[in-house]
Amino acid sequence: MLPEAAHPERARKKIFMRNALTLSGSIRSDSLNARLARAFGEKLAQAGANLTHVDLADYPLELFNADLEAQNGEPDNAVALARLFGNADIIFIASPEYNGSVSPLLKNTLDWISRQRTHKPFARATFGIGAASPGSMGGISGLRHLREILGSVGALVIPKTLGVGNAGKVLTESGRFCDPALEERADEIAEMMHSIQRRM
Ligand SMILES: Cc1cc2nc3c(=O)[nH]c(=O)nc-3n(C[C@H](O)[C@H](O)[C@H](O)COP(=O)(O)O)c2cc1C
Repeated sequence: MLPEAAHPERARKKIFMRNALTLSGSIRSDSLNARLARAFGEKLAQAGANLTHVDLADYPLELFNADLEAQNGEPDNAVALARLFGNADIIFIASPEYNGSVSPLLKNTLDWISRQRTHKPFARATFGIGAASPGSMGGISGLRHLREILGSVGALVIPKTLGVGNAGKVLTESGRFCDPALEERADEIAEMMHSIQRRM
């Protein structure tokens, strides 16, 4: 919990409701990254954000191919996601690490979204990134790639990342943190995301 009572400045920030969006780069049932996205979303909501959780299973997209784009135009799901991104002040992405990089689902989704100029999907939000892995390293190699990808589309990504190792033990099935040190780190990152706001 953010100790708002002891920090009037933080409590005051709640007046400005921010739109926060969380998403997981895995749609696997019982995805650890979905747990992380939910747990972190709760932190953002506790800090006063108006939270939307995006389940990418609700936005299926074909594997990007410029021919498809040329023939059919922008898929509705890419437009819908770009609009959600463009309206968010804070976006937290939890990505699985696959062979040292991000999941193909997440990369494909970001590629489609990056084609949307109208909604300026990466121009407004402050991005936070995290990864949950059953291994001990917490997906940090994948997070380096995710930072580069988001940087290449002009997104503002905060410096701290939330790599969660042994994730099955420190995130509950219902999507809560159950490790005090991890929860403290999540609080710090949520607070940093709230305080860093891009000037339009
Ligand atoms: C193709 C593939 C590659 C993987 N590579 C890594 C890896 O490089 N590092 C790692 O920590 N875990 C790796 N894993 C294990 C994933 O971290 C693990 O399956 C995780 O639970 C996936 O995220 P999810 O639970 O959100 O679906 C890999 C899994 C798959 C299927």
